[in-house]
Amino acid sequence: MGEFKRTLITTALPYANGPIHIGHLAGVYVPADIYARYLRLKNEEVLLIGGSDEHGVPITLKAKNEGITPQDVVDKFHTIIKKSFQDFGISFDIYSRTSAKIHHQTASEFFNKMYNQGQFIEKTSEQYYDEENQQFLADRYIIGTCPKCGFEKAYGDQCESCGTSLSPTELISPTSMISGNKPVLKETKHWYLPLDQYEPWLREWILEGHKEWKPNVYGQCKSWIDSGLLPRAVTRDLDWGVPVPVEDAAGKVLYVWFDAPIGYISATRELTPDWEKYWKDPDTRLIHFIGKDNIVFHCIIFPCMLKAEGTFNLPDNVPANEFLNLENDKISTSRNWAVWLHEYLEEFPGKEDVLKYVLTANAPETKDNDFTWKDFQARNNNELVAILGNFVNRALVLTNKYFSGRVPERGRLSEYDQETLNALASLKGEIEKSLDSFRFREALKNAMDLARLGNKYLADEEPWKKWKTDPERVQTILNVCLQITANLTIGLEPFLPFSMEKLRGFLNFEKHDWSMLGNTDLLSANHQVNTPELLFEKIEDSVVEAQIQKLLDTKKANELAQSRVNSAKESIEFDDFGKMDIRVGTVLEAEKVDKTKKLLKLKIDTGIDKRTVVSGIAEYYKPEDLIGRQVSILVNLEPKKLRGIDSQGMILCAENADGTLSVVSPDQKVNNGSEVK
Ligand code: MF3
Ligand code: ZN
Repeated sequence: MGEFKRTLITTALPYANGPIHIGHLAGVYVPADIYARYLRLKNEEVLLIGGSDEHGVPITLKAKNEGITPQDVVDKFHTIIKKSFQDFGISFDIYSRTSAKIHHQTASEFFNKMYNQGQFIEKTSEQYYDEENQQFLADRYIIGTCPKCGFEKAYGDQCESCGTSLSPTELISPTSMISGNKPVLKETKHWYLPLDQYEPWLREWILEGHKEWKPNVYGQCKSWIDSGLLPRAVTRDLDWGVPVPVEDAAGKVLYVWFDAPIGYISATRELTPDWEKYWKDPDTRLIHFIGKDNIVFHCIIFPCMLKAEGTFNLPDNVPANEFLNLENDKISTSRNWAVWLHEYLEEFPGKEDVLKYVLTANAPETKDNDFTWKDFQARNNNELVAILGNFVNRALVLTNKYFSGRVPERGRLSEYDQETLNALASLKGEIEKSLDSFRFREALKNAMDLARLGNKYLADEEPWKKWKTDPERVQTILNVCLQITANLTIGLEPFLPFSMEKLRGFLNFEKHDWSMLGNTDLLSANHQVNTPELLFEKIEDSVVEAQIQKLLDTKKANELAQSRVNSAKESIEFDDFGKMDIRVGTVLEAEKVDKTKKLLKLKIDTGIDKRTVVSGIAEYYKPEDLIGRQVSILVNLEPKKLRGIDSQGMILCAENADGTLSVVSPDQKVNNGSEVK
């Protein structure tokens, strides 16, 4: 990186409308953290910036659904998200949030500067308005029929059935999701960033100037630019967000994708009075870690904003990742198809590094990848336990056993010893090459090669067999093993910080700079090491099977929910409904039907008569609990013989997702015979 003095690393600000899952971690926060830790070990000046993205329509929708304020929503999830990051040791210099005052101020100033420089186009257009609620409707608040495929619940910005992106006015028979009414078109004024004007500059800056960006990033930029950029509205009619700081803009806020990236700046400003050095000094390198759905915002829109404002640096690189899937299916918050970090931590306490290891080893760097619990187990057992843990444990245990924990002298080196030490020294360059080009999977593999090297050396040399006959040779062998172990604490530190801290404890060895990696004399003879504990433990089949079962249960619940949607029946005339005579009655007697598991025989006062009904609810109600209760009963259903009993009518029940039944009763006492209609 030579020409730069410092690095500012930003991580996509997660929306504060849900907790964080492994997809977030794998795509953004783990690689960013590895990179930041690596630079810090090299004693470079670096900041790792993060925070919660707290504006936008989905947060207002969630608040509305739950009957709380948007601030309540973001307060709750900001806290959960921040804690997950802390628990996983993501080493943010600051984790801020966009509802912070300093952010509102920074975003307003940014907008104002662009506004005063004349960099927006002001345009009035017609947008859907909900007259009952007196508000303009965000695209997501409008549903209607997709003009392409006929799906009846397409959103104003996209049809989730056929995937087409839409604008609200294309929807057939649009409906406001807030009131259920038909919205009307009404004029509204907004400010647009004329992206089309930046096209020549973007071509030169990215397509000519940043050919080194990852192919997936470069490719997406090229296709956006080639397909022609249009002016983009940077304001919205909404009451949650940063108010548009100009006159005549009441009820309008900055578009969430305008204010959120400015959040990186606000957070830096909150962290240090020296923030301008990180954003404006050309000697600072700006790197954005993001997922692939964020590429256009970080490579095209935000840079155009920075360029327009005029005093900020542009990103030097945007190493965006693809997506991580879970057990062959897209991670989805709404379908609860995810491994949530807070749940993982409860179920695998102390195993933060294991998850980070697996997510890095299997990171979706160049294509979408799959997380499976089997792979999680295999990488833990076959790599962390069998290679890394096993090697350092044997090196330390043998040193304790033969030399009372003192690092033995190294005698004359065999050719193999020398080769091993040379290999150790040369791995440093390999790891660096990979890290410097954001290839974290490869970097981790190279760093683990240090442990593989040691493991193989120890297995080949078999010091335990030589102890009796050649103790001097054993001294040399263990010295070499301990030097490798000490090197591991440096080489793996960016990837496995919790475990390397433990390992340094076992070795009684201070944290060392990256520059010491490859040094074959990190531990001097006679240095005292401690008795080790296990660095990693085996994960049993039953444990991962339980996780897989949990996902299967989720899948089943989702399918049931879906089948509920699918089983929705066609509309009927009121007269059809009117044919049913449903009454409220009181249970007078109840007893189990002999030799059946499910059936109860009930005597019911229907207000019309007293009659017998057989009902399949014995698994959910004890007879004595039903006596005296009011239930709903379909009284004009044809009588039917069940187990020899004449059943006259049917008790109405609601069926839960798991098949359990619950009788439908009036919520206040009514007269027997009252009609349900
Ligand atoms: N909240 C966005 C998402 O989760 C990311 C915002 S990144 C920022 O996709 F640049 F806007 F901050
Ligand atoms: Zn469609």
